[in-house]
Amino acid sequence: MSDLRPFEIDNSGIDPQTNFSANPEFSEVLAANLQRRSFLKGTLGTAVATVFGGGLLGCNSSTTPAPVPLPEAVLPAPVQTFLNFKAIATSRLDTVVVPEGYSARPFLPMGTPLTGSYPAYRVDGTNSGADMEQQVGAHHDGMHFFPLDARGEGKNSNEGLLVFNHEYIDANVLHQNGPTGLPRPTDEVRKEVAAHGVTVAHIKKDAAGQFQLVQGSPLNRRITGATPMDIAGPARGHAKMVTKYSTDGTRTRGTLNNCGNGYTPWGTYLTAEENWAGYFMNSDVQQPREHKRYGVGTKNGRYYWETADSGADQYQRFNASTIATDADRDYRNEPNTFGWIVEIDPFNPDSVPQKRTALGRFGHEGVVFAPVAEGQPVVFYSGDDSTFEYIYKYVSKAPYFKATAGGHLLNEGTLYVARFNDDGSGEWLALDINSENFRAKALAANVEFSSQADVLINTRLAADVVGATKMDRPEWGAVHPQTGEVYFTLTNNTSRTDAQVNKANPRAKNATGHIIRWRERAAANSFDWDIFLLAGDVGTATGDLKLTADNHLASPDGLAFDKNGLLWIQTDMSGSQQNSGPYGNNQMLVADPKTKQIKRFLVGPVDCEVTGISFTPDMKTMFVNIQHPGDRSTPTQFTSNWPSDDKTQRPRSGTVIVTKNDGGVIGS
Ligand code: FEO
Ligand code: CA
Ligand code: CA
Ligand code: CA
Repeated sequence: MSDLRPFEIDNSGIDPQTNFSANPEFSEVLAANLQRRSFLKGTLGTAVATVFGGGLLGCNSSTTPAPVPLPEAVLPAPVQTFLNFKAIATSRLDTVVVPEGYSARPFLPMGTPLTGSYPAYRVDGTNSGADMEQQVGAHHDGMHFFPLDARGEGKNSNEGLLVFNHEYIDANVLHQNGPTGLPRPTDEVRKEVAAHGVTVAHIKKDAAGQFQLVQGSPLNRRITGATPMDIAGPARGHAKMVTKYSTDGTRTRGTLNNCGNGYTPWGTYLTAEENWAGYFMNSDVQQPREHKRYGVGTKNGRYYWETADSGADQYQRFNASTIATDADRDYRNEPNTFGWIVEIDPFNPDSVPQKRTALGRFGHEGVVFAPVAEGQPVVFYSGDDSTFEYIYKYVSKAPYFKATAGGHLLNEGTLYVARFNDDGSGEWLALDINSENFRAKALAANVEFSSQADVLINTRLAADVVGATKMDRPEWGAVHPQTGEVYFTLTNNTSRTDAQVNKANPRAKNATGHIIRWRERAAANSFDWDIFLLAGDVGTATGDLKLTADNHLASPDGLAFDKNGLLWIQTDMSGSQQNSGPYGNNQMLVADPKTKQIKRFLVGPVDCEVTGISFTPDMKTMFVNIQHPGDRSTPTQFTSNWPSDDKTQRPRSGTVIVTKNDGGVIGS
């Protein structure tokens, strides 16, 4: 007998629009830049027309010229040629396809025994919550390979730590019969919380040259949605961070919805909290701005964790309603301890993860640093992946010195948000309560911030106030290792209307997305940008670059440069886009920005996303993640069985190891 009520998990609002701010749209920005543009029109208009073509940006209602393309960067002659492989076709197969001459091997799928008593993975979905805490989690996403000597030369290509995110879960295949009902049985909730977070896996090549997990290594570690963490930086100890768990606002439990990642020049891992807001609910009549602007639910959390039938505090915290008399007696502030970049030291299994609040609070897709130089500040870029959200840049206050670099560089600095002007210039607008411009803008918008911590807790609102450019869902960024040019994927935005089109987001109802790039100017806080690629079907053109059957794509998401300057592009098309479009399953392509050659390199199995990428230092092993294969499965019918060939097996997210059969460099 059970009194469980049925319920449904709603995955439709994963990237909800919560930006309804009156932040000036491009028409106003245009007016402000009129004078400058006239100058550009006179001098560079012809070149612009040639490179971007006539029809491409023609949907733009403005009559201004397209932005000036960035001039070619001067690079040293390559030591070898790349992209010599034959591009693969799109695929609807339930397997990972790579080009001829390459091999792909599944590795560390969800449920792989990792720590403690190394509980075996059970194919029938009956592993407990306690098991999951000692196994590789679900929904592999951002990833980095740290060579075992990463703190030194970083040249070891045979042994290291593979660290990767677990973005979310598919309850239909995680549990034996799917999720049971309401209230949630506590062990199901425990298992789901444990399937989130991060895996640190110590891996080493065996005698046959194949990477294997090092069983029993003290470096193997699971970080979950329940692991104790410190709040670091300006928001540490702020009144809005106070909870029943941490009455002084300095600690919290867990990291959630870890999408893209980053790493630091000092050898630590960064994990990004993306769609965390949906895990909480707050049924107060009026939600505070630090909940509402991020989309905290009013009725229930995404997985109803707050209903766990044990009533344990660690699950009740997902109810962020005002319940008690004071903030230190309930969890009204719990969502404020999420939305951050979290730094993890993978080489110290006892280290406490640090939520780096100076980098801002939003739907962090990932984070990427610009090349570092002795005596200069460190610079990190991060996108906020929701409809009409922004791109940010963090600049440390203290300069970088290799000998002393560490997490302190992420505690004090300035956070900026990007404005992309229609003429191809851009500005970084400081979200700094000590900046006169910021204070004036806040005053004009009738918005009050009491401190820099308050600004950071309400980063999206601060960015609204200064007039940042609303983008088509910023996903990953990548910085060219030699030129320092920054590339960002804008995955799609079908909500953009004709009236909201601008040069940086040039298509209304943008279903297929694009990749923007910029180069910092020597003058502080400004840059030049252009559009590197408009994604779409065969024939879609960006200037003289026309997509073909070898490289048509939609919804670019994961993005990374390898050390040879090749740009790897991963797609995250929705199920309907995969099923109804010409693109097949999600895929990974590789581009040489210098030649603008792009080739499809990998196609994933059915109903997956291809995301997460890293390499060994010798560039002969590539790690790629396959997330949520078979994500339209029911508890009894699986739309994919990957990585198994057995049609009865439930699908599992996992890594794939890609190598070249002749032992050569990946991408050659
Ligand atoms: Fe988790 Fe924005 O992709
Ligand atoms: Ca992503
Ligand atoms: Ca995505
Ligand atoms: Ca995803």
